[in-house]
Amino acid sequence: MNIALITGSSGLIGGEAVTFFATKFDMIIGIDNDMRRWLFGDEASTQWNRKRLLETIPNFKDYAVDIRDRSSLEKIFDEHRADIKLVVHTAAQPSHDWAANDPFADFEINANGTHNLLEMARKFCPEAVFIHCSTNKVYGDTPNSLPLVELGTRWELSPDHRYFEHGIDELMTIDQSKHSLFGASKAAADLLVQEYGRYFGMKTACFRGGCLTGPLHSGTELHGFLSYLVKCAIMGKAYTIYGYKGKQVRDNIHAYDLVNMFWHYYQAPRVGEVYNAGGGRFSNCSMLEAVALCEEIAGKKLQYTYSVKNRAGDHIWWISDTRKFMQHYPTWRYTYDMRDIIQEIFRGLTMRHEAIA
Ligand SMILES: NC(=O)c1ccc[n+]([C@@H]2O[C@H](COP(=O)([O-])OP(=O)(O)OC[C@H]3O[C@@H](n4cnc5c(N)ncnc54)[C@H](O)[C@@H]3O)[C@@H](O)[C@H]2O)c1
Repeated sequence: MNIALITGSSGLIGGEAVTFFATKFDMIIGIDNDMRRWLFGDEASTQWNRKRLLETIPNFKDYAVDIRDRSSLEKIFDEHRADIKLVVHTAAQPSHDWAANDPFADFEINANGTHNLLEMARKFCPEAVFIHCSTNKVYGDTPNSLPLVELGTRWELSPDHRYFEHGIDELMTIDQSKHSLFGASKAAADLLVQEYGRYFGMKTACFRGGCLTGPLHSGTELHGFLSYLVKCAIMGKAYTIYGYKGKQVRDNIHAYDLVNMFWHYYQAPRVGEVYNAGGGRFSNCSMLEAVALCEEIAGKKLQYTYSVKNRAGDHIWWISDTRKFMQHYPTWRYTYDMRDIIQEIFRGLTMRHEAIA
């Protein structure tokens, strides 16, 4: 029996992974306790996605277990042992701003929770491939020291800078910068994942995401900016842009393209790897550009306000250089650019909104 075990299975990346891997494995085991609702309130609950997955994926079974609960995790891993061929770890406290509200909970979910899963995998299925959703926030605010120039709608690097053409690679230091507590707890997890590869020889990899997005996101003000932006446009809700004149640039990768990266890695895994995994030059936008595209696709004006204070730890310019991954896995390709992504989110949210109304 081949099993893929997916944490955060009702969330954006976890849910996409359940669907993607359901046809490739005999059984998919999900772990998700709807902590997103506890973190961000009812509108962020991922129960709707869980329900959808249970209704449509016959070989999917899930547990409402907290990844901090070691004894419950142990029972699940012990029951399936070496049948577990793949662990995709996506469960997390994912917000900068939230982390400072409850630093213990943030660290216990992101760092200790990841450590629990690594130990379970080492004890019960050490041959399994272990994929971890890390983040570009492990680089802290180091990217903010890049020499940026202000253009009409975005901050940009000058064309002669070494990062201009392809973006920021994995050699940027993760040390000696301000990360936010979230960035620090994710950096701790990232290092542990690398260490279980390098020290114990396990097939572990960190995918350091830029903005991960798609219609399955339960977007809320503190997390999932594109999904939340489109939601505001559809529902006529006010949106606030924080700092940097709204010209901060982020790259966006569709959940499908990221999970397809996981599949390529699974088929030819390496030990203790780290990959930047974002939309790169292929798919990126500033806040102002995202608003304009969103208004065009929604066919109406978005009500937004501007607050001069930026979010602590926010990047002014982030474009991922994904060439390391592409060199290791040359047949992987992006399939969704910015316009495709926003159009798909718009369609998905409109359908969900109409179904609720
Ligand atoms: N979305 C982004 O823009 C982005 C960017 C970079 C990195 N990441 C990382 O990618 C991963 C997936 O992000 P996402 O956007 O799919 O998040 P998400 O919030 O949509 O999904 C995470 C899921 O994990 C569950 N969860 C949280 N804490 C849990 C716990 N203690 N026990 C069990 N389940 C728990 C939540 O209920 C939720 O359904 C996270 O590790 C996040 O830090 C996300």
